[in-house]
Amino acid sequence: MTAEMKTERFYIENASKFDDQVVTIKGWVYNRRSSGKIKFLMMRDGTGLMQGVLFKGECSEEAFAEFDTLTQESSVEVTGKLRKEPRSASGYEMGVQSLKIVSVAEPYPISPKEHGVEFLMENRHLWIRSQRQWAALRVRAEIIRAIGEFFDNRGFIRFDAPVLTPSSCEGTSTLFSTPYFDEKAYLTQSGQLYGETGAMAFGKIYVCGPTFRAEKSKTRKHLTEFWMVEPEVAFADLEENMNLGEAFIEHIVQSVLKNKAPELKILERDLTKLESIKGPFPRISYDEALKILEKRGLPLPWGEDFGAPHETALGEEFGKPVFVHHMPSQIKAFYFKQSDTVGGPGVEGTGKYALGCDLIAPDGYGEIIGGGQREESAEVLKRRIAEHGLSEADYSWYLDLRRFGSVPHSGFGLGIERTVAWMTGVEHVRETIPYPRMLNTLRP
Ligand code: 4AD
Ligand code: MG
Repeated sequence: MTAEMKTERFYIENASKFDDQVVTIKGWVYNRRSSGKIKFLMMRDGTGLMQGVLFKGECSEEAFAEFDTLTQESSVEVTGKLRKEPRSASGYEMGVQSLKIVSVAEPYPISPKEHGVEFLMENRHLWIRSQRQWAALRVRAEIIRAIGEFFDNRGFIRFDAPVLTPSSCEGTSTLFSTPYFDEKAYLTQSGQLYGETGAMAFGKIYVCGPTFRAEKSKTRKHLTEFWMVEPEVAFADLEENMNLGEAFIEHIVQSVLKNKAPELKILERDLTKLESIKGPFPRISYDEALKILEKRGLPLPWGEDFGAPHETALGEEFGKPVFVHHMPSQIKAFYFKQSDTVGGPGVEGTGKYALGCDLIAPDGYGEIIGGGQREESAEVLKRRIAEHGLSEADYSWYLDLRRFGSVPHSGFGLGIERTVAWMTGVEHVRETIPYPRMLNTLRP
């Protein structure tokens, strides 16, 4: 046993801890090239890339000979001495001494040349080894870590909502259904309604998990299976909800900038744009948004939802995330608290506005947060359930929250894939989750 085997296992991302030591990289061949007496082996071990240099004389004759049999993605264990190399991403390279081939890979389908998206999607299980995909998924993992950190540090309890549910949360048009013994179940569209029960039990909670929508739209922002994080807070109004969302987004952006700089470099993300994401974020009403859109040549009739061009224009107007609040009730789900006027109180009357708040990201990434203040009156909520053609019996447990100590409360849902797309600058949400599910995409 060599000394380093008895201690910490070597990974490329920790190279600086092993300065000048002899270590073993256990990984895969990324590529290789030779020039006369010197051979170069680019290796990846899952945590990063490192170049190994094979000099005749310095490395074993066996290794020097075997080098030529190595194909892309062959698995190897390569031992050698680390030395500083400022031009490399890890800051180090390896002077290779010996090489063990674990498994020679068959001709690898993904070469450095350009491939079509369809081909890459079919080979998603291999595509995730490529640098850009690897970097984007590392940023995703950091975002999910930062999400947990943010809420845990603020005393929120993680509250896991069921995936199999008996009724809808966000309307019945995008439900996936599945037989559930003798009845029908739906894959959850949002954990919100269960999150509200958690807020009444624990004060403040967050739900985090996969959510499902049978979206027939083929856009760069829609998946049929996506992850959402959904905080819910008792005794919080619309404004407090926006304050929370703002602090939350700031924390995510700062964490990614601090902890994933090398990945953002691989992704060629414009850092100055992310660095400028600091609160306060502008907060405008839907009515104000319509005026801005009109000025920008995108008039929208009152009562219609924004499409992608409207969201992009609002993002451009401010250059940072913008909250849009007080939307038309007619385009919002049944559970929103309503008001007759922007800023005005009261649930009686027309209920023209929903006390919602959506956060629109800059650079065309669209709505990343959707949320608002919930209706707390059982009577009003029953009326809304009926107006939406839903069955009151399905929501009796939800109505109980209004019967037993009802309080004003608010929450929101952040779409994780859209957030990853915005942070990484990738064009399409299919590159922000290991295995995207979309219309016509179920494999691998
Ligand atoms: O605006 P949505 O539909 O809000 C809700 O589901 C609320 N019940 C959340 C809550 O208040 N607890 O969805 C929230 C966010 C959107 O802003 C968007 O970022 C993301 O979820 N999202 C999607 N992401 C990818 N693909 C889809 N099909 C998405 N639909 C929504
Ligand atoms: Mg929404």
